[in-house]
Amino acid sequence: MSSTRPSAGIEAITVHVPEHYLTLDALAAEHGVDPAKFHSGLGCRSMAVPHPTQDTVTMAVAAVRDLIDRYNVDPEEIGLLICGTETGVDSSKPVSSYVHGLAGLGPQCRTFDIKHACYGATAGLMMACSWAHKGRKAIVVASDVSRYQPGSPGEPTQGAGAVAMLVSDRPQVLRIHDSFEAVHTLSVNDFWRPTYSPTAVVDGRYSVACYLSGLRSSWREMCEMTGRCRDDFAYMLYHLPFPRMSWKAHTAIAEVETGIDLASPSSDLEPEKLVYTQKVEPALWAAQEIGNIYTGSLWLGLAALLEGEPTSSAGKLVSLYSYGSGSCSELITGAIGDDPTAWHGRIGLGAALTTRTQIDHDLYLEFRKMELALKQNGSYARSEIPLEKRLPSHASTLYLGVKDHRRVYRPGADWQPGTDQPRVQIREDEPPEAWCDMWMLGQEPPWKVQ
Ligand code: CAA
Repeated sequence: MSSTRPSAGIEAITVHVPEHYLTLDALAAEHGVDPAKFHSGLGCRSMAVPHPTQDTVTMAVAAVRDLIDRYNVDPEEIGLLICGTETGVDSSKPVSSYVHGLAGLGPQCRTFDIKHACYGATAGLMMACSWAHKGRKAIVVASDVSRYQPGSPGEPTQGAGAVAMLVSDRPQVLRIHDSFEAVHTLSVNDFWRPTYSPTAVVDGRYSVACYLSGLRSSWREMCEMTGRCRDDFAYMLYHLPFPRMSWKAHTAIAEVETGIDLASPSSDLEPEKLVYTQKVEPALWAAQEIGNIYTGSLWLGLAALLEGEPTSSAGKLVSLYSYGSGSCSELITGAIGDDPTAWHGRIGLGAALTTRTQIDHDLYLEFRKMELALKQNGSYARSEIPLEKRLPSHASTLYLGVKDHRRVYRPGADWQPGTDQPRVQIREDEPPEAWCDMWMLGQEPPWKVQ
């Protein structure tokens, strides 16, 4: 590969977090589990719970629109929109297509989804970097609602959220070193979601073993190809199915590099704990409060690091390990941009977490039921789903159910950044419709842009 190849990577990043959350104390109390298992054993404190009017599409739209607004992106400049998701809303129409319409991107734009469990957005990002080498701009958005059976071991790790990234040859957030590939693929059944099931099926312990096996292999490959080792990285970021997974990952890499068996009772873990505190922990705080957001999980860690340590992380080398069950994993390395003003105050993570609303376990279960009910054809008109429970207090796009086999989305109360003015006014006297279709048919949509 030519050394004169221009750099590419992430120019801008935003995170969207659902408005509601359930504490893991509440979940532990419900299931009679020692809360310490969730707190220390898994490293989780609370989980984001999407309102029934919020789904993979609405979260992705919110993250992309924030990206456009906060970084002054010209939507017409985006020639490629890739959505990484494993919780899509249709077997044929991609989430990216909904996002393209609802976020107002231009028509000359390739859009598609990439599905490979939690790896999809990373695959999209690497593909978008090749695109960016040609001087073009792309958006990659990772969006998922993580769902397991109530009462199952996976339930405390659930979460939901979206991360949007502008990818270009001006990588002022993260310049990606793409001159090597440390990829590891193996067809395994560690975690999957059959087409008939709304929740994932998982062989938990096996999935942890598969994750670590991919990591060891990718790390060795990266070391061989680049001559780098962990001392070269100021931060080491991981896909976070639950935050404590990063400790297992950290010790696995330490063992690869030192050959010391850290599981042995005679091993001194203190030096490793110190390295972990410095290099890994700064990326964990958001996942502890939000849970596993699948495709966005690794990138949520990057956002947390950038927002939590904007000055000290600037200019530093990072490693990023992405794992998608099934399985494909990839280890990426890169350099954080030198100037934190490029992202400072624009990611939106801390602000979103401080304005969330806590819900109790009963409402969490009710949300889950309503979410399933709203997937059925005709659910849009069903009266048993009370309207007041359909509306979150602030959301840029609402999902209102299925009508004539079409999912109905409409703009919600959306505020112009920096002002108190709503950008979209909904005329409540008119029933919301599948407004993109109406627009295509030349009809007036039931809302107007101010
Ligand atoms: N106090 C403190 N710690 C406690 C405790 C207590 N009272 N009780 C248990 N613990 C500790 C355990 O010792 C254990 O720690 P170690 O792993 O360090 O031994 C930890 O809490 C978890 O306990 P268990 O192993 O007994 O937990 P579990 O079997 O009930 O569930 C899990 C763990 C299998 C990971 C489960 O959460 C799960 O199935 N999660 C979904 C799958 C997943 O996240 N897999 C990760 C790799 S796959 C991937 O990365 C893709 C993806 O996103 C899904």
